[in-house]
Amino acid sequence: QVSQASALLVDKGNHRHFMAKEIYEQPETISHTLSHYVDMGAERVAIREALPFDFAELTRLTMSACGTAYYAGAVAKYWFERYARLPVDIDVASEFRYREPPLAPGGLSLFISQSGETADTLAALRYCAGQGQHVASLVNTLESTIARESGVVFPILCGPEIGVASTKALTAQLTALASLAIAAGRARGALSEEQEAELVRELVRLPTAVSQALGTEAQIMDIAKRLSKAKDVLYLGRGPMYPIALEGALKLKEISYIHAEGYAAGELKHGPIALVDEDMPVIVIAPSDELVDKTLSNMQEVAARGGNIILITDKKGAETVGQDVADIILIPEVSSFVAPILATIPVQLLAYHTAVFMGTDVDQPRNLAKSVTVE
Ligand code: G6P
Repeated sequence: QVSQASALLVDKGNHRHFMAKEIYEQPETISHTLSHYVDMGAERVAIREALPFDFAELTRLTMSACGTAYYAGAVAKYWFERYARLPVDIDVASEFRYREPPLAPGGLSLFISQSGETADTLAALRYCAGQGQHVASLVNTLESTIARESGVVFPILCGPEIGVASTKALTAQLTALASLAIAAGRARGALSEEQEAELVRELVRLPTAVSQALGTEAQIMDIAKRLSKAKDVLYLGRGPMYPIALEGALKLKEISYIHAEGYAAGELKHGPIALVDEDMPVIVIAPSDELVDKTLSNMQEVAARGGNIILITDKKGAETVGQDVADIILIPEVSSFVAPILATIPVQLLAYHTAVFMGTDVDQPRNLAKSVTVE
């Protein structure tokens, strides 16, 4: 019966690829994740897992992961630092494990992995367990090795992800991490009850905003047609949009084989601006937030050099830019807290449609595996 049910779940439905299906499932998968972490009636985060540690007593959170899961952690660093005032270290597991960093006893280590089987992430987990850390994991596969070896397992509950390039697992990881950051903020006295309620309301509004963001598809197909002719693409973002820029570049490389790089917008002038010419698309991820003006001024530097800009922003952000931007992909206006989750949607659609135009094997890109169980 179980295998029958999962056979149904892994059907492509009306979609041409699993990746498209998984992109389109996100309003539901995010709702599903939220229903586990959030008490919508009480407007608060309700962690169901028994915590073997107290957020209030932590001095540091150490996160490790690989690939897209690492970018989820990189966004969460901003959340834990800002909303819970908890210092965070995050590293790719393959670097972390060999660096053998000193860890204060009683600290919390969190491992993010869709499959729960990634070899480097597992090795990082074993290192931290050996250093007397509390070991927590955020996984999709609850019967995985990483889950089994963790003191506490946080599920992301997005259902099986078949496309090799991760999509719905990322937004589910982000949703769970945002909830955990709120819980940590409350426990540490960094957030008031009213602030918690406001952040929870923003999370609850997210699935509707994601549905609206999926409505950019027709425009994105048009842009993707042009992107498919590019040799190199640059993605820029600031703050929590920086990891989303990295994710955009990773997604494009993975499935379209076009060379792409993600950069912190403020680093533009320290190197990548030398590459800018009319042949290189520059994708700027800048919904209106505290940093939008800074990112948009970096964007003007690209425009002044004839760069071909594709701007992902909201209505308020779009009002502040002039005529230099060839394409503006408008996403709904949401708070800066949930904006990184929402901005993931156009980034996924851009990579997906570019790959479709290139005619690559979107669900099974060359040389890549869904689960990397070897070093
Ligand atoms: C592989 C997959 C990526 C994934 C990464 C980490 O490279 O192709 O999509 O992000 O592994 O996988 P995990 O299962 O640990 O999240």
